[in-house]
Amino acid sequence: MAILDYLGFGRPSPAAESNSKSPVRALPASWYTSEEMYQLERRAIFSRRWMLVTHGTRLSQPGEYLKFDVAGYEFVLCRDRSGEIHGFHNVCRHRAFPVVQGEQGTAKIFACKYHGWSYGLNGKLAKAPKYDELEDFDKSQNGLFPIHVRVDASGFVWVNLDSKEAPEVPWEQDFDGVDTQERYKVYNFDDYILDHEYKLDGAYNWKILADNFNECYHCPTAHPDIPTLADIETHDVTGVDGYITHQSIPTEEQKKLGMAIASTYFFPNVSISVLPHFIMLQRFLPKGPRSSSMHYQIYRNKNSSEVDFQRIHQLYAKVVSEDKVLCELTQKNLNAGIFVNGQMHPRLEKGPLYFQQRDREAIREHVEREKAAKQEIWPAQQHLPVEAVVSKEDLELCSGLSCQPEQAGLVW
Ligand code: FES
Ligand SMILES: [Fe+2]
Repeated sequence: MAILDYLGFGRPSPAAESNSKSPVRALPASWYTSEEMYQLERRAIFSRRWMLVTHGTRLSQPGEYLKFDVAGYEFVLCRDRSGEIHGFHNVCRHRAFPVVQGEQGTAKIFACKYHGWSYGLNGKLAKAPKYDELEDFDKSQNGLFPIHVRVDASGFVWVNLDSKEAPEVPWEQDFDGVDTQERYKVYNFDDYILDHEYKLDGAYNWKILADNFNECYHCPTAHPDIPTLADIETHDVTGVDGYITHQSIPTEEQKKLGMAIASTYFFPNVSISVLPHFIMLQRFLPKGPRSSSMHYQIYRNKNSSEVDFQRIHQLYAKVVSEDKVLCELTQKNLNAGIFVNGQMHPRLEKGPLYFQQRDREAIREHVEREKAAKQEIWPAQQHLPVEAVVSKEDLELCSGLSCQPEQAGLVW
């Protein structure tokens, strides 16, 4: 099926009004299974929206670095000697070998193990062996490809892969005020230290995971322990710009056990659940249309007891392992090609409906731009300098042959 058929141009978007008495149709199964849609999401969303990735406490010393992979884009964050956090794609500027091999560590310099080029902690090219023999080689133009980095008021670190000087989507457009929300005021985020990370790889589209996380309609059926954690009856979500806050009113007993939860989902793929003894930073990392990794950074309040931390950590670990099964079996049926979509509850499932509307809007907007440009638009792609005339001709030739979309994109 052609990609435009998925999009339903000309048809009204389903309204996600929580006070509606009518059920609302979900995104169709094809959006959760097709390679074309996945590649479109890589262009329209993961290449150009702000994504929260970690907390700054994990990069406290100069030279400390962390590597990430989101939707096939591998990048590195590193704190330099002046204290600034830099981000760059893990792609050597010479011939594209990954410069950083380990997941994390401390470096003085990043040396590529292919031909020996080396880069400073800020991504600038330090040495390119034998290139001092050449006349027209500008070192300043051959640093690692930078990505945009932002540290918010609560110390969380965000990235945006848009290769423009300033990202087209400003952080404030989607997330203004999310880092200073009222319920964060009782927390000191610097008290939380990473305890461990883990991941749950599975055969599911990343949006299945987002749909599942953003509603608790399934909680009474699927999570027997949830009543310990939160009061399902008072659970509600609110979508604002690019984020969805989850709230419920804890009982006195839950408060005593440290179960007051401030949970927020950040479109496209991240959530943070903040509790007195524990923070769960959850990222849904697409690997392909039908496979993703649920990645968890578990932070422990350094002032909390082992018992208090483990109580909440064990509970969350059980709940997410239950969610994994729900998502895998749902995806399996989407793949089978029987189901197109169902009718969702406008109040009890308004979180996933809000999420799906954000996804639908981002996709439609990007498709409109691509239609106007008459070609695919890859916002994270390298900008070639004007003098790279031969490369442009080569690209156009490949584009005419319908080479792989990643190689054919000419518009940034
Ligand atoms: S690819 Fe890195 S030095 Fe050649
Ligand atoms: Fe769940």
